[in-house]
Amino acid sequence: MQAEPAIYHDDFREDVRRQLASVDGVLVWMNPIQDGRNRSVLDALLREAAAAGVFVSAHPDVIMKLGTKEVLYTTRDIGWGCDTGLYRSAAELRRELPTRLARGARVLKRLRGNGGIGVWKVELDSGVGAGDGIGLRVRHAQRGSVEERITLEDFCRRCETYFADDGGMLDQAWQPRLPEGMIRCYLVHGRVEGFGHQAINALYPAPPGTPPETAPPPGARLYHPPTLPEFQSLKQQLEQEWVPAMQQVLGIDTESLPVLWDCDFLLGTKRADGADSYVLCEINASSVSPYPAAAVEPIARAALARAQAARERH
Ligand SMILES: Nc1ncnc2c1ncn2[C@@H]1O[C@H](COP(=O)(O)OP(=O)(O)OP(=O)(O)O)[C@@H](O)[C@H]1O
Ligand SMILES: [Mg+2]
Repeated sequence: MQAEPAIYHDDFREDVRRQLASVDGVLVWMNPIQDGRNRSVLDALLREAAAAGVFVSAHPDVIMKLGTKEVLYTTRDIGWGCDTGLYRSAAELRRELPTRLARGARVLKRLRGNGGIGVWKVELDSGVGAGDGIGLRVRHAQRGSVEERITLEDFCRRCETYFADDGGMLDQAWQPRLPEGMIRCYLVHGRVEGFGHQAINALYPAPPGTPPETAPPPGARLYHPPTLPEFQSLKQQLEQEWVPAMQQVLGIDTESLPVLWDCDFLLGTKRADGADSYVLCEINASSVSPYPAAAVEPIARAALARAQAARERH
């Protein structure tokens, strides 16, 4: 197996296109949003390479199925979901958000993003006067953002760009155990090959009774091998129940799952027997990096197998 880097930027896409024409497979790392650009030019190029017989991971069609926040809605009933809604327009958001907010805090997410861009914690704020409309407390999950008090109308106007760019917004119940940390499961096709654990995340609240600016910034993520005892029950449920159920709903066979992807979990309500439950926060398939050292060999083996299969087909 011979590996070579293909450094990508829209400005020199022709160089990369030529390079892709001479290989059996390509592994791709590129954020959905980066420096104000999106993946549209790259995705067209990758589709073209795949159509010509090159193995592409992750294929843009697979990313569209499992790597956008819409997956939280399409798979909300398979066991890893929580109270989840999907808005197709700003008008729908305006109409339906107040009913959901009456049940408690929500997290709204643009469908395609990363780094907390377009992810908002939203809750009702009784402090804003009735004459100003419904009052909200909102906080952007992008690093450095502080809670603000605005009206529902202002918030909906702020979201209009997400509907224009991504065609919708996802609405998920706020998970109050966020301060206990998040668990990222790294998968190679259908198997968990490592974990990441982050104790302090975006949207971590300020200590009670202190001003919003005192909320701590996100901390480091620590990486672990897939054998870490604490997360074996999560690994088992994910590999044996949720990933197969997701594949069924989305119509993705195991070899078409990305060579490297991740599922982020929040802690849900404890079960009657005291065991933890888990709620899917999101799936990343566009640019999973860094990842645990334990995943390196499984990634290489999977990439080799797929590239060999692509060569044999041609
Ligand atoms: N339902 C929720 N309850 C509590 N906190 C949440 C919830 N959903 C998201 N968050 C917080 O917001 C952060 C960003 O959300 P999410 O991971 O969905 O977006 P992202 O922009 O794709 O992030 P990343 O770049 O890490 O992939 C999460 O890491 C978590 O801290
Ligand atoms: Mg993400």
